[in-house]
Amino acid sequence: MRALTWQGKRDVRVDTVPDPTILTPTDAIVRMTTTAICGSDLHLYEVLGPFLDAGDILGHEPMGIVEEVGSEVTQIAPGDRVVVPFQIACGSCFMCDAGLQTQCETTQVREQGMGAALFGYTKLYGQVPGAQAELLRVPHADYTHIKVPHGPPDDRFVYLSDVIPTAYQAVRYADVPKGGTVAVLGLGPIGDMACRIALEEGRHVIGVDLVPERLERARRRGVDTISLEHADDTGDVVDAARELTGGRGPDAVIDAVGMEAHGPAIGRLAQHMASVLPDSLGQPMMAKAGTDRLEAFYLAIDLVRRGGTISLIGVYGGQADPLPMLTMFDKQVQLRMGQANVKRWIDDVMPWVLDETDPLGTESFATHRLPLEDAPHGYEIFQKKQDEAVKVLLEP
Ligand SMILES: NC(=O)c1ccc[n+]([C@@H]2O[C@H](COP(=O)([O-])OP(=O)(O)OC[C@H]3O[C@@H](n4cnc5c(N)ncnc54)[C@H](O)[C@@H]3O)[C@@H](O)[C@H]2O)c1
Ligand SMILES: [Zn+2]
Ligand SMILES: [Zn+2]
Repeated sequence: MRALTWQGKRDVRVDTVPDPTILTPTDAIVRMTTTAICGSDLHLYEVLGPFLDAGDILGHEPMGIVEEVGSEVTQIAPGDRVVVPFQIACGSCFMCDAGLQTQCETTQVREQGMGAALFGYTKLYGQVPGAQAELLRVPHADYTHIKVPHGPPDDRFVYLSDVIPTAYQAVRYADVPKGGTVAVLGLGPIGDMACRIALEEGRHVIGVDLVPERLERARRRGVDTISLEHADDTGDVVDAARELTGGRGPDAVIDAVGMEAHGPAIGRLAQHMASVLPDSLGQPMMAKAGTDRLEAFYLAIDLVRRGGTISLIGVYGGQADPLPMLTMFDKQVQLRMGQANVKRWIDDVMPWVLDETDPLGTESFATHRLPLEDAPHGYEIFQKKQDEAVKVLLEP
């Protein structure tokens, strides 16, 4: 089959690789019809190289048609239309029962001390072949799927793999009071969708980014926007947000940026060094030395009102990140974070996805649809924010 493989920093290629096969009786093979590129893939593309091997297949936002199932799979059958969550979970352990599927005790990557295995996401998460390919092997397939009806276009459903439940978790964890305000940092796919969900729930939403067309996209849906493009320092952003909230600041802040935030260069050199060092040196440096760029998180701490909540949904990875504990403690900041527990939220978000009026705007959410063969171009324009790329869907 054809698949998008990681080869090195900013180097991904579409190659011919062996077709996946059923390895255990609980596996299924799904033929991809749509498979997306995520902001999380950009971390692999840029800074997480030490945890990848040349040839690793990327991708974790898939949907398609079941092609084959193992002998113990009873919940899906060939011909079913399914979305596959980005994490692999068993559905029957303590963590899955608690709705913490990204901590699944059956698939936890214990040798790395990490949570549940993820598709297409580095040795830290099990080095499971990813979904930017014609076919995907789905372990624990009886639980690791979301069955969807035939008929509506893929755009309706593909975001159930990650974007919609992730944005929904960000909003739940932000715990914005009725009548309250949430500021969303980063208006990529995750931040944009978090804005849409918070608006749908009747909250006042402030969106912050530095890319003009992303700000404009949010503004069109009713978000008050603040641009970082010309802000001299983040003080301007804090002042602007206070003006929009009666002087107090937003009740909650969602950080939908993560480890590669733009801003002053804290951590950038360390990230760059780790990404170009041999793996034996780069891995410990990335995992132990604290190499996040924390600009968005620092901004969140300054922005949030006293006693408010910060919901981190952007991915962080450092181990020694310096934090302003005095400010966080004195402001009584509440902090929640983590990978999204996809299946936990599906019943909550499905009504929006099935609603004929398409309240979340899924059908016009993607800016680009490319054949799988053009995936390297998709990565490039998404990373460089060229050609107004916000969400790129691949069609194998
Ligand atoms: N927790 C999860 O389960 C989960 C799932 C999916 C994605 N993510 C993470 O969410 C984040 C966003 O993903 P995405 O797909 O929207 O990616 P993206 O890269 O398109 O979005 C990031 C946005 O942040 C903006 N930005 C950069 N620096 C900023 C700053 N200092 N302040 C405000 N905005 C800034 C960028 O211009 C960009 O629009 C990534 O870190 C991704 O890894 C997490
Ligand atoms: Zn994703
Ligand atoms: Zn489990």
